[in-house]
Amino acid sequence: MGAEHAVASPFTLASTIKLRNGAQMPRLGFGVYQSKSAKASTAHALAMGYRHIDSARMYYNEDEVCFAVNKFSEHTPNEGTGKVWLTTKVTGSEHGTAKTGNAVDESADIAKKYGLKWDLFLLHDPTAGKEKRLEAWKVLLEKRDQGVIRTAGVSNFGVKHLEQIKEAGLEMPEVNQIELHPFLQQKPIVEYCQKHDIVIEAYCPILRGQRFDNETLQKVSKKHDTSVAQVLIRWSLQKGYVPLPKSDTPARIQANADLFDFELDRDDMAALDALDEGKPVSWNPVNVD
Ligand SMILES: NC(=O)c1ccc[n+]([C@@H]2O[C@H](COP(=O)([O-])OP(=O)(O)OC[C@H]3O[C@@H](n4cnc5c(N)ncnc54)[C@H](OP(=O)(O)O)[C@@H]3O)[C@@H](O)[C@H]2O)c1
Repeated sequence: MGAEHAVASPFTLASTIKLRNGAQMPRLGFGVYQSKSAKASTAHALAMGYRHIDSARMYYNEDEVCFAVNKFSEHTPNEGTGKVWLTTKVTGSEHGTAKTGNAVDESADIAKKYGLKWDLFLLHDPTAGKEKRLEAWKVLLEKRDQGVIRTAGVSNFGVKHLEQIKEAGLEMPEVNQIELHPFLQQKPIVEYCQKHDIVIEAYCPILRGQRFDNETLQKVSKKHDTSVAQVLIRWSLQKGYVPLPKSDTPARIQANADLFDFELDRDDMAALDALDEGKPVSWNPVNVD
């Protein structure tokens, strides 16, 4: 994981980050929350070179995503479906031993229909309360051990939720997916995850298009002759995170991945680091009991 103000390594769209279990997860992901057509957007993203798609049971588009990945691999057999990293999530209302077990099996069956397996399965949020949350976590680990899914992780987990997993003597998640951008830097969670070798995925990396008129963002994007979205995604990559920008617009899907011919310098990174307001643009339930 990147340290504070980490100097950029020479990223490409094919760059990966190694998880504790040895899996190589592509550094740039693609989000499909509220996608008007996850099938079309995923197909565009794959054609543009993205190899990491972030879905969820709550998005009701697991099937569309898997369909698009399967079609892509038919047309580009050399790529193989194994090279596209697929994530889904089980929502808090489905936490608890029986419910989570059924939910994971259902999602696994959707992927299986297309010859696929979920590379990463996350607990979507910590809202179910400690007991059901820990039950759900045990189910993910069991399903991983049984080979139903490849990797288990969490999302929107605060330090307290992660500590409860540790206190219960359970294996720690490989990944924590949280809302993360210069205006919400979640430093205690980030520090905890880095200390425990938990890879951090950044959702809402471009703040859903909000704050693009911010003076610092404007200045840095002009300096590098790039868009504000590209600056924000690049900041996330250079911090060592795995950003998951979403778009349904082909030109934006392409531009959001066109990140590898410029680099934010220390001054740029420091200027963006100074924007933290602790303000989310999404639900950010990291502090629930
Ligand atoms: N775990 C969680 O609880 C959680 C919560 C939220 C999100 N996520 C994941 O993270 C992904 C990203 O988050 P998000 O979708 O909420 O927000 P986001 O990626 O920060 O922003 C997406 C929005 O920005 C617009 N956009 C995309 N590229 C742009 C560009 N270059 N210039 C201007 N606007 C642009 C998109 O519009 P168009 O589509 O119209 O182009 C869309 O409205 C989600 O899709 C999901 O996979 C997870």
